[in-house]
Amino acid sequence: MTNSNEAVALSAYQQQANQAKQHPEEFWLQQAAALPWFETPSTALERPDEIHSQWFPDGLMNTCFMALDHHVVSGRGEQIALYYDSPVTDTKQQWTYSELLQEVEQAAGMLSALGVTKGDRVLIYLPMIPQAAVAMLACARLGAIHSVVFGGFAANELAIRIDDAQPKVVISATCGIEIEKIIPYTPLLAKALALANHQPNHCVIVDREQYQSSEQLENQVDWQTAVDKAQPHGAVAVAATDPLYILYTSGTTGKPKGVVRDNGGHAVAMHYSMRTVYGMSPGDVFWAASDVGWVVGHSYIVYAPLILGCSTVLYEGKPIRTPNAEAFWRVCQDYKVNALFAAPTAFRAIRKEDPQGEGLKSHDLSALKKFFLAGERLDPPTYQWLNQVSGLPVYDHWWQTETGWAIACNPIGLTAMPVKEGCATVATPGYQIKILRDDGSEANAQEQGNIAIQLPLPPGCFTTLWQDDERYCSSYFSAYPGYYLSGDGGFIDDDGYVFVMGRIDDVINVAGHRLSTGEMEEVVAAHPQVAECAVLGVQDTLKGELPIAFVVLQAEADQSLVKQQLVQRIRDQIGAIACLKEILIVARLPKTRSGKILRRTLRQIYQHEPYTVPSTIDDPAILDEVKAGLAQ
Ligand code: COA
Ligand code: AMP
Repeated sequence: MTNSNEAVALSAYQQQANQAKQHPEEFWLQQAAALPWFETPSTALERPDEIHSQWFPDGLMNTCFMALDHHVVSGRGEQIALYYDSPVTDTKQQWTYSELLQEVEQAAGMLSALGVTKGDRVLIYLPMIPQAAVAMLACARLGAIHSVVFGGFAANELAIRIDDAQPKVVISATCGIEIEKIIPYTPLLAKALALANHQPNHCVIVDREQYQSSEQLENQVDWQTAVDKAQPHGAVAVAATDPLYILYTSGTTGKPKGVVRDNGGHAVAMHYSMRTVYGMSPGDVFWAASDVGWVVGHSYIVYAPLILGCSTVLYEGKPIRTPNAEAFWRVCQDYKVNALFAAPTAFRAIRKEDPQGEGLKSHDLSALKKFFLAGERLDPPTYQWLNQVSGLPVYDHWWQTETGWAIACNPIGLTAMPVKEGCATVATPGYQIKILRDDGSEANAQEQGNIAIQLPLPPGCFTTLWQDDERYCSSYFSAYPGYYLSGDGGFIDDDGYVFVMGRIDDVINVAGHRLSTGEMEEVVAAHPQVAECAVLGVQDTLKGELPIAFVVLQAEADQSLVKQQLVQRIRDQIGAIACLKEILIVARLPKTRSGKILRRTLRQIYQHEPYTVPSTIDDPAILDEVKAGLAQ
């Protein structure tokens, strides 16, 4: 038992972390009580088995109501809810909570008129335009399940997601805009629909003046016309355990994983994290410079800031070249942003063009108080640069699509901890992080191992994989019974700080985008003139990681032609964001005696790192061949 003197000495962070660990049900019911439920839950957690968690099973609610109606009812209607800033179209727009609610009511009415009801899936393939947020919230309003697909994915990836989610309606736009390049979306969607087995009943298209599509999809509906004539729709009561969305993320194979998030646990986690992890209050301006196609966009562009009553920024641009490396500072100035969340790669891009941080000096950043970085490890040089040029605190935090919010963070809303560079700080209250050895035993402090989270996972984490609960159980929970396997490796130091050092599987992070080398390998291997191949991630000073392919060709193949074709195949089948541009032709691949390709050794050779010849290697001479080939 803790005596009262000790309790006084505990920091606010330690108190909450202890309470969440020792009395999770009481702790999370307290957090849930801060939200406007239709029926407040009386039970925090039901666990039908060790793996599955159902948070707030008797709660009734609506996520869109919590994000919009509630604020209008409680007097926040005139506050700006959403800023839209698009340097690529030279547009700035803003919506108060009342105005955004009206837009969403109309969009929900449109979807309802198209036959969408609770539990139906709606696939959203949109660029960073306000309709993306409106469409997500409209689905939530109806209790429909949205599945947003990142605009940078190719038609084939879109088709896979259409077939898996089986949406009743697809919402898209005529185009996206990448800096000054128009990316026509409707032809991409048409191609995806031609590839897919499942066909939606309707395709709702946002007509953008930058690209007038000649393509007419089957049962095409114009967004604006349909929204204008729709009847406003109210918020439908759903169970807290009903799904809010599916978000596909890369696994180790060509089949993406459909992460399913519930309504109630998600809303509670979003609300709690805005205060605890980000130290925000209602009325603050929060900007997550990500894309709605990624989990960061779901959680921290759309849901969390609105659920707390903040103003959020939706930015259709890049950190550089739209039009310059001052873009982020200009946006922070224009909307008096209080906290900026972005990927380290974005700041590496800015630093490259503006090493002295001149852009910060020429803008009024008096409102900006802190930075949050995630998506990849915050490397110490990027941390130091941003901290020095801004004079502001920079917080790394670690999370994944699967969890939906930070597993480890600097809990500044409770207790600001001293920063250690290259470190995500400490376990967020609710997460019990353990470092496990391969045999499942717990590692000592400082010892590297597999990062795992003791079950149950806190509210907000994924509840299953869409239509593939077996994969959910086997991919994440079978290696170490009683734990969620994160797929990341790292260690915890003597002070309890969590260092996340990188993936232990075939997943890589390219410019903060999560991609599967296994999937790329499948595309490369499918080329008729490729005998075998290995795709792996190597370090890149701008994008963190980049994929490269080692390829063995059939004897008669034309090397330069096949290289070009492989680059194009990856772009066509996965998307330009995969950035697989370097194809290395080798005569043979180094393997173990059991036939496993020695990817780690290949990476070490490529990066000119010291390596030891693995004792299991079949033919050590191949390593010298590879080295000689790379030196040419
Ligand atoms: N739709 C279509 N294509 C897209 C796209 C989208 N939404 N996003 C990227 N692409 C394409 C780009 O046009 C580019 O194509 P190209 O090879 O034909 O030129 C390719 O994908 C690679 O794009 P990108 O990764 O953006 O590289 P870049 O060199 O143009 O820019 C950065 C480098 C660092 C500025 C950029 O990657 C960036 O802003 N990264 C931050 C990403 C981020 O915020 N991630 C956070 C997720 S939490
Ligand atoms: P995603 O699911 O796209 O959010 O990617 C999750 C992966 O990104 C994690 O498994 C990590 O490999 C990596 N990642 C995200 N944030 C961090 C961080 N702060 N430090 C280290 N790795 C991170």
